[in-house]
Amino acid sequence: MKTKITEMLGIKYPIICGGMLWLAVPQLAAAISNAGGLGNITAGNYNNGEELREAIRQTRQLTDHPFGVNITLLPSFRISAETYDDFFRVCCEEEVAAIEVSGSPAQKYLDKVHAAGIKIFHKVGSVRHAIKIEELGYDGVFAAGIEEGGHPLNDDVSTIVLVPRIVDSVQIPVVATGGIADGRGLAAALALGAEGVMMATRFINTQECLAHDSIKREFINRQETDTTLICKSLNLQGRALKNRLAEAVLESEARGASLEEIFPLLSGQRSKEAWETGDVEDAAFMIGQSVGLIHDVPSCQELLDRMVREAEEILKGKSALFD
Ligand SMILES: Cc1cc2nc3c(=O)[nH]c(=O)nc-3n(C[C@H](O)[C@H](O)[C@H](O)COP(=O)(O)O)c2cc1C
Repeated sequence: MKTKITEMLGIKYPIICGGMLWLAVPQLAAAISNAGGLGNITAGNYNNGEELREAIRQTRQLTDHPFGVNITLLPSFRISAETYDDFFRVCCEEEVAAIEVSGSPAQKYLDKVHAAGIKIFHKVGSVRHAIKIEELGYDGVFAAGIEEGGHPLNDDVSTIVLVPRIVDSVQIPVVATGGIADGRGLAAALALGAEGVMMATRFINTQECLAHDSIKREFINRQETDTTLICKSLNLQGRALKNRLAEAVLESEARGASLEEIFPLLSGQRSKEAWETGDVEDAAFMIGQSVGLIHDVPSCQELLDRMVREAEEILKGKSALFD
């Protein structure tokens, strides 16, 4: 399978892992890259540039293939402006293959990133942001629909509409993300004009992801109706698994609670521990509607091979419609 994205990044399959706080770490990144996709290390997992450098080097010990780094440029209690500068500096010094930016545009870093030979992408949820990203000189855009895990833009546009709208609006390659978890999603994204897909939720249920087995079992039992948008009232919407914690956040929002009151419920430490201990009720799991499409825990290699095989069968099979 050859697309502008496989050519640009030197990868076998047009399948990219999105940033995942606490989960997108060297072991998973290397497994995805070894399987032919583009693995991801999420800079927000680390306290400073040197810790990120260590993670990049650890990944290089596990794979010879390209991988990317997610830098989520949002105001953070944990990460200072200087640390963001360090994250970009370290990525350039280590010459990673790609950077995925989300949140604020990264224009002040673009020249240095390009000088280091790195491809840089921005994750957007609207046509206007995609156009802006292209004007700034990014290499590509990740078009993220409201189905996605994490923090979808509050324009609330679905992937199936957003992707072709963005494809029609920019010249740079578009990667579809949000709600994709199998070969049907990959085939559909390519049919919509995307050059590849990005997934995150689906990668949690792989053998190489550090999430606890009881969480992976829970996700197999959950359906596409089992996520909810939290923190909409605070203008910080995020899609999370429906559980006791998400209910508590929604109840607080209904009472008009402030960010200061709600924030402790969403503490990063709480989520980090829960992924590792398997407590499925008392932490925020920011996963997407594609949880309804998860039925197993394959290796990354099995998952990617299966997706591409399915997509190929679909795309080749559909030509029979016109015989
Ligand atoms: C557990 C989890 C954590 C995430 N953390 C981040 C993050 O730190 N930064 C970011 O830009 N996106 C984050 N995302 C969003 C993903 O990178 C991606 O855009 C989205 O999940 C794709 O949709 P899908 O979940 O349907 O595959 C996260 C997603 C998940 C599932």
